[in-house]
Parts: sequence; structure tokens; C-alpha cells
Amino acid sequence: MRDLRISITDRCNFRCLYCLPETEEAANFYRSRFDAVRNPKPFSLEPIRYEWKPKERLLSFEEIERVVRVAVSLGVDKIRITGGEPLLRKAVPELISRVASIGGVRDLAMTTNGFLFAKQAQALRDAGLKRVSFSMDSLDPANFKKMTGRDGQAEVLAAIDQARSLGFSPVKVNAVVIRGLNDHELESLVEFARSRELSLRFIEFMPLDSGHAWQRDLVVSGREILQRLQARFKLVPIDPSGNPAETARRHAFADGRGEVGIIAPVTEPFCGHCNRLRLTADGKIRTCLFSLHEHDLMPLLRGGADDAALAARLVSIVQGKEAGHRIGQVDFVQPARTMSCIGG
Ligand code: 5AD
Ligand code: SF4
Repeated sequence: MRDLRISITDRCNFRCLYCLPETEEAANFYRSRFDAVRNPKPFSLEPIRYEWKPKERLLSFEEIERVVRVAVSLGVDKIRITGGEPLLRKAVPELISRVASIGGVRDLAMTTNGFLFAKQAQALRDAGLKRVSFSMDSLDPANFKKMTGRDGQAEVLAAIDQARSLGFSPVKVNAVVIRGLNDHELESLVEFARSRELSLRFIEFMPLDSGHAWQRDLVVSGREILQRLQARFKLVPIDPSGNPAETARRHAFADGRGEVGIIAPVTEPFCGHCNRLRLTADGKIRTCLFSLHEHDLMPLLRGGADDAALAARLVSIVQGKEAGHRIGQVDFVQPARTMSCIGG
């Protein structure tokens, strides 16, 4: 376990329909895909009566720093700050500089929807943030709004450009691919990424949405994505042996401009070489995105336990990591928490 992903808030200013499907447009999309005869899956598009965690139940920056320090002493060397939308939390650059100053943190990245990034970009960079991944599923402003619930594409595009000019490297763009929604944009997203030297990731739609509206038919498989790209671009597979825990199947372009990765957790699970551990904003460790069980660190953190006790707890949690997710199995149960609480 070398990669710790820390959600610093479960709030979000977007309503992506694969994560928090609460908008009228999300409801219409799913309704149009559900068929009472062929696909009678019940789903709910009510706004989740979601209890945003009160501030005192969130880990403070000091507590996060402490968990990172202990995790690093056990071999973690990659930290990703995520959410919800992490930049909704106040003073994130302060957290970044605390984490960056821990010896042994080799990589420090953030996943953001980008909407609030521009204002803080320089401060984040100065604080020691190395890499940033933006979520952007569509280049068409109307489709962007349909997918994210917010009219924010201009802000996100500006954030991407600013990240590039400030020297974040590589700048990544994640696009979740949903059949009938943005799967016609694969090629244009690639062209966009190549023109800006962005590292693009196409991600299969996973059953982690708040409405439990996910269905298999909406997943465009990694294989299908690859075939589509191969029909249009000359791709050169990148040898994964340098990073065995890599989740993306990466491809360079024959002309050397840009790269694209395909992340296929649903159709081609990579659980066997997953090296990720997740910490939620309220102090719980998850050993998998799809864990049905969480491990609460709060009693230790706020109960006076020393670092050795915290380390021992982390080791025992990791030893109990599940063999893999069970998407597609008859006994699959979607976890209660959605991606907006867990972070990518
Ligand atoms: N399936 C796949 N990816 C998702 N993300 C959020 N929800 C889902 C889902 N249900 C992605 C976001 C973001 C990252 C944190 O995870 O697009 O890039
Ligand atoms: Fe979208 Fe990320 Fe917010 Fe979920 S947490 S609604 S994926 S921006």
C-alpha cells in the first residue's frame, strides 16, 4: 500500500450524474434509459437527504498530517487530496504545505472538478502540490452541464490552462464515459488533450452513484473505448512493468504527442495489484472503493493513542484488505457511500 487518497470534504459544488444524480437532466437521462420491461431496476433520483458532516466530525489538517506521517513511516509515498470537491474546504494550500513537508512523500496530487481551482492555483503550486487531475467529461458546454449539473465548463477549461502554465506536470483530465451521453466525444476529447499535452484518462462508469441508477448497459467497456480510439489514432501501448500498480492501460500516440489511459475497473478489474488506501473526511479508512466496511481512526486520533498504536492499526487494516470488488457477481452490494464521499 503505497498510495493514500484523502478525501478532505464530502461536499461538492457539482452534481455529476454518475456521482450525485440530483438534477432534472440527470433524472431525464436515467429515465430514458430505464425500461420497465427489460430493465426494471428501481432507482431514486431524489436529492440524497444527505447529512453533510458537521465540521467537528471532519479530520483537522493536523490530524490529516499525522495520519500521513504515520502512513509514510509504513511505506506510503503517494498522497492524493480529493473530495467531494477538495477546494470547497478552506485553506487547502496550508494542508498541502503540511503534507509536502513530510519527508518520504514522493508524490502529492489532487483531484478536483476545477471550478474553484484558478484562484488558488498559484498558492497550491507554491505549497508543493505536484500534480493535478481535473474531471472533465465533455467538451460541449451543453453536454458538460447535463453531465455535471453546473454551467462551469469555461472555468474548468481556464483551470486546465492555468495548471499547465504554472508547471503542474503532468496535468491530467479524467473523463467518465457513459453510453448515450458522452461516448460520441471520445475522439474530440483525445484531440483536445493532445493539443494541450494533457494526460487523458477514460474511466468506466462504476456503481458508486448516490441514486443507485448505475446499470451495466451504460458502461462503455475499456475494450470498446480502445477499439474506437485505435480506429482513429495510431496508438503505441506503454509498457506497464515500470509501475505494476498502475490502474490505467496507457497508450502513447505514434506521433509522440500526448498519451491516453483507459481505466476499466468494471470489465477488467485490477484489484490484484491495487496499492490504494483511502481516508474519508470523517476519519475512516477504506481499503477499497467498494468496501462495505470502514475502519474508524477517530477513536485513536481523538482518544490519545500514540503513533505506534496508530501504525499498528493501519497495518492490521491493510492486512484485512479484500481480495477484490464484486461488481458483476450476484452478491454485489453497492456501498452506502458514494464517490463524493470517498474520492477518486
Ligand atoms: N464512476 C467512475 N468514475 C467516477 N468518478 C466519480 N464518480 C464516478 C463513477 N460512478 C470520477 C470523477 C473524478 C474521480 C474522482 O472519479 O469523474 O474524476
Ligand atoms: Fe462530480 Fe466529483 Fe462532485 Fe462527484 S465529487 S459530483 S464526480 S465533481
